Amino acid sequence: MRAQVAIIGGGPSGLLLSQILMRAGISTVVLERQTRDYVLGRIRAGVLERGAVEMLHRAGCGERLAREGIAHEGCNLSTVKGMFRVDFQARVGEAVTVYGQTEVTQDLYAAQDAMGVVIIHEAANVALHGLEGSAPWVSYEKDGQSHRIDCDYIAGCDGFHGISRQSIPADKRTEYERVYPFGWLGVLSPTAPAAEELIYANHPRGFALASMRNEKLSRYYIQVPLSDKVEDWSDLAFWDELKRRLPAEVAESMETGPSIEKSIAPLRSFVAEPLRWGRLFLVGDAAHIVPPTGAKGLNLAASDVHYLSEALQGAILESDAGALDQYGPRALKRIWGAMRFSWWMTSILHRFPGQSDFDQKIQESELLQLETLESAQVTMARNYTGLPY
Ligand code: APR
Ligand code: PHB
Repeated sequence: MRAQVAIIGGGPSGLLLSQILMRAGISTVVLERQTRDYVLGRIRAGVLERGAVEMLHRAGCGERLAREGIAHEGCNLSTVKGMFRVDFQARVGEAVTVYGQTEVTQDLYAAQDAMGVVIIHEAANVALHGLEGSAPWVSYEKDGQSHRIDCDYIAGCDGFHGISRQSIPADKRTEYERVYPFGWLGVLSPTAPAAEELIYANHPRGFALASMRNEKLSRYYIQVPLSDKVEDWSDLAFWDELKRRLPAEVAESMETGPSIEKSIAPLRSFVAEPLRWGRLFLVGDAAHIVPPTGAKGLNLAASDVHYLSEALQGAILESDAGALDQYGPRALKRIWGAMRFSWWMTSILHRFPGQSDFDQKIQESELLQLETLESAQVTMARNYTGLPY
């Protein structure tokens, strides 16, 4: 088989890139290790920046998003002293759209199916070859048979645990990492959201977040020690702990119910550089991970796809090979912006094991500035709603 661009990974990064390239007349093939049901079963964040929304529209898969996405013009922050709101619209004239990543992935699959894109699921032992030459190729196995795809470029969209990043020689790769000493226990519940907008809570018992997917589906998180197991947390225990950490007036009136999904995710900041190795380009979680505080994961994947699709179109359609050199520097500038923001949100909202009284006072001072200084709110709102592309 031959395609101009072989895409490794059928998550949001790979599907969006494939969709944009196909619409530009560039042929793609997507190789995904899992089944489609497995990919669609993963629950991830659900807050889209305007840049990501616009990309989905330009890619021809924004119809349901336009109908079902909910605009949020601000969010709430809660501390032991009370709750305050950061008004994105008033501060920076922007809003975000609440729409689940699972829905985005579903819309992308539907659009790709409609265009007849080849998406190979359950592709095993994917390996990349000839990256430093002019004729790279990909090998994989499916149903016990070996296959080969010849291509001009390879996009590594295979997430944090994929093989693409590992295909860059270790001595040519630099990895920057911070691992946080706690996780998030998340619950998806068919209940009305606790509030109209998201609530990020800093509480002595630990961080909590009240989020949502729609008016009948809520998503909640609480900070837990990494040693906790999901099985240790009954629904009852979860609701009880969540309510203790949210503002009393919210906790009293909130609806609780069964959990549809419950999982614990560790928190990590990670960037691998460079993003390009010969004819291979890393995109999305394959190159970087953000802690979920601030919901930047999918949004960063979208901006990577934006920069890479421009670079590949320049190289393939306009024979401008220099366009490819632009990808890494352009994407990394924005990646580090989101790294800083999600690290900062994480550091001001969580209780860290061994946090000193001094650290605690600094955290309180950060939150007070955010509550009382317009300039601090402008910076937060600018980052939350999305740095410019
Ligand atoms: N071969 C083929 N596919 C692979 C391989 C492999 N060796 N390894 C991983 N994959 C697939 C995974 O099964 C997954 O479907 O690559 C896909 C990567 O998808 P994501 O992990 O969702 O990463 P990405 O598409 O970059 O999305 C970034 O979505 O996943 C969230 O938290 C993430 O919000 C962020 C955004
Ligand atoms: C979510 O809805 O899952 C969500 C929202 C905001 C975040 C993280 C997760 O910062």
